[in-house]
Amino acid sequence: MKQRRRRAETAAVRGASDLQKKNGPVAPEIYQTSTFEVADNEEQIRVTTTDRYYTRWGNPTITLAEQTVTALEGTEAALVFASGMGAITTTILSLLKAGDHIVAQRDLYGGVTKFFSEWLPRLGIETTLVDTTEYEQHSRAIRPNTKLLYLESPTNPALRIVDMEKTAALARQHGLISMIDSTFGTPINQHPAEYGIDLVMHSGTKYLSGHADLTCGVISGRRDLIEQVGESRKTLGNCMDPHAAWLLIRGLKTLAVRVARQNDNALRVAGFLEQHAKVRRVHYPFLKSHPQYAIARQQMSGGSGMVTFEVDGSGDDARRVSEAMKLFTLATSLGGVESLVSIPVLTSHAMISAEQRAQMGVTEQMVRLSVGIEAVEDQIEDLERALEAVNSRVRVPVGSGPRS
Ligand SMILES: Cc1ncc(COP(=O)(O)O)c(C=O)c1O
Repeated sequence: MKQRRRRAETAAVRGASDLQKKNGPVAPEIYQTSTFEVADNEEQIRVTTTDRYYTRWGNPTITLAEQTVTALEGTEAALVFASGMGAITTTILSLLKAGDHIVAQRDLYGGVTKFFSEWLPRLGIETTLVDTTEYEQHSRAIRPNTKLLYLESPTNPALRIVDMEKTAALARQHGLISMIDSTFGTPINQHPAEYGIDLVMHSGTKYLSGHADLTCGVISGRRDLIEQVGESRKTLGNCMDPHAAWLLIRGLKTLAVRVARQNDNALRVAGFLEQHAKVRRVHYPFLKSHPQYAIARQQMSGGSGMVTFEVDGSGDDARRVSEAMKLFTLATSLGGVESLVSIPVLTSHAMISAEQRAQMGVTEQMVRLSVGIEAVEDQIEDLERALEAVNSRVRVPVGSGPRS
C-alpha cells in the first residue's frame, strides 16, 4: 500500500495500463450504456460481480478511471462517485453505524461541516471537532466508540496544513480509520497513503478533472474499506456517469503539468499579495510566513494553486475586489485551468453558521483565488488593478448569486 508502482506524473497519463505493444485506440472507449446484454440467465448471474452488469454496479470506463486513480495515489483500490460530497457521504455512511463517533478537525469544507453537524446526528453518529493543528486535542477527543479520524489538508479556505505523519500514527495507535480530503493537495503535491492514511478523498470536480466541466468524487485506499464502500455505492446510487468518467480520465492526463504551473503561478501571486499595502494577510503554505511552513515543505512538493488573502478593509471591500477582477472569473469551485475568485463566506462556507465560520477563522475579508495556468504577469496585473477597489468610495452593487 505504501509503494507507488509508477510515479504520479506517469500514472496520471498512463494509469495502471499495460505498456506492452498492442493494437487498439490510444484514447479509451466510452461505454456509454446503462446496461449490458447477456446470452442467457446463467451469464446474467455471473456478470453481477463484474463491471458489465448494470452501470450503477460498475462499467468498464468507470473501472478504468478507478484504476488510474489507484495508480496515481499508490493505493490498493479506488472508487469514483458523482461528486466529492457523494464520495464523502457514501464512505462515511458505509463505514460507520449508529453509536459510532468521529473526531474531525474544525477547518473543513462547509458541506462536510454541515453533514457532520446536521445529518449524522440524526443517524446516531456524533462528531467532535478539534483545533486543526492541535494534535493533543485530537488525541484527547478519542473515545472508546471513536471509529474515524477525519482530516483535510490544505484546508478550505484558510490553507492550514495538517501533519499527515502524526495524524496517521495517532489513528493507527487507537485503531481508527483515517480519512483525508486531499482535494487542495492534489495527488501531485502530496501522497497521504505514503504516511499510512487509510482513505484519500478528492473532489475530482477540481484539480483531477481540471477544466470546470464535470462533477465527481474519488476515494482510494485500503482494499477492505474500498470494497465495503463500493457495496454501499450500489445501494446509495452515487455512481459516476461513464461519459463523465471518460472526461475525468482525459483530464488526469494533464494533471501533473497543470499543477506544476499552478504551483509556480500561485507562489508568485502569493508573494505579490504579501507585499501589497491593501492586503492584511496572505494564506499560502509555501510562504515563509505561513504558520505550518515547515511541515508544508516536508510533506508537499508544491504549495498548490490556491491562495487566500484578507483585504485590509471590510467585507464590502473584499466583495468589490472580487467583482473588479476580470481575468479571475467570479465563480465558486477551483482547480481548473482558468483562474477563479470567490468569497468563502458567500460560497464554500455559506451553508454553515456564522459561529462555525468564526471558529474556523473564515472572515468576511477573505478572498479565495484558484490560480489558473494563464500567464502569471496577467494574473498579477488583474489583481493589482482590482485591489484599487479596497477602501474606494465607489460602491459596486453586490449580488447574492447561487451558493455551493
Ligand atoms: C475541499 C473540498 N472537499 C469537498 C468538496 C465537495 O466536492 P463536490 O462539489 O465535488 O461535491 C469541495 C467542494 O468545493 C471542496 O472544496
